[in-house]
Parts: sequence; structure tokens; C-alpha cells
Amino acid sequence: MSNRTFTMIKPDATRKGHTGAILQMINEAGFRIAAMKMTTLSKEKAGAFYAVHSERPFYGELVEFMSSGPITAAILEKENAVDDFRKLIGSTNPADAADGTIRKLFAASIGENAVHGSDSSENAILEGDFFFSKLEQF
Ligand code: CMP
Repeated sequence: MSNRTFTMIKPDATRKGHTGAILQMINEAGFRIAAMKMTTLSKEKAGAFYAVHSERPFYGELVEFMSSGPITAAILEKENAVDDFRKLIGSTNPADAADGTIRKLFAASIGENAVHGSDSSENAILEGDFFFSKLEQF
């Protein structure tokens, strides 16, 4: 069951006005939007979402950044969604991202890297459920 992934368009990309262009790339890559909302994460919510990174040195910076402005959260559906989406967005560090990927085009740094993509189907479900009730997942 690896046909869904979860993404956020992060505050940096939102501030720079890249939301529409990123959604267009997601569409053109063949993903169906199964849920979507624009919202702002509180520090508490951002901290909880990234709790797995709480012991990492960049955790404070990550929580600060992810709560610094609006994000767009979405559940995306496609065959092989997790892997195909990670290919579409490129490496976590935009300096290492392949040409034509979302992070190569829109990300500034490893911290402000434009988009999030789930790293497994299990996490995609947990992350999607973090933002959307079952009634909001189509
Ligand atoms: P994301 O895919 O959202 O998952 C965890 C995030 O932590 C990652 O993208 C980066 O934005 C962030 N991150 C990872 N490594 C670093 C780092 N060295 N410095 C700052 N942020 C980082």
C-alpha cells in the first residue's frame, strides 16, 4: 500500500509565491490531490510533527522556521507515491538536488528547502492523519 504520500509546501516557498508553480509540477507529475489545506503551524504543532528529530542539533531552528508562516499541507495519490515524490522534490539539501526537481528550482538551503515529502508509506499515513481527519481525506 504505497500509493499515498504527504507533503507540505513550506513557509519559504509560500512567502516567495511558489505555491501555484509547485502544485502545477505535482499535478503534471501525475499525483492526485486527496486532501489539501493552507494553515500555519504553531511552535507546539511544528515541534510535534518533527518530534522524531527532537535530539538533532537543528531541531530548534526547524521548529522556528516551520512555524514562521503559512504552509500548504496535502495528501497525494499515485502508484509508488513515496518514492516518485521524493524523486520529484530532489535531495534534502538543494545543493545536491538534481536539475528540474522542486528543491533545485525553489529551495534556498537545507533548512529552507521549499517542500517536505514523507520518507515511507507508514509515515505518510501518520503525517496525513496529523493534518486531516478521515472525513477530509478523499
Ligand atoms: P524535511 O524533509 O521536512 O524533514 C526534516 C527537515 O529537517 C528537512 O526536511 C530539513 O528541512 C531539515 N533539516 C535537515 N537537516 C538540517 C540541517 N542540517 N540544518 C537545518 N535543517 C535541517
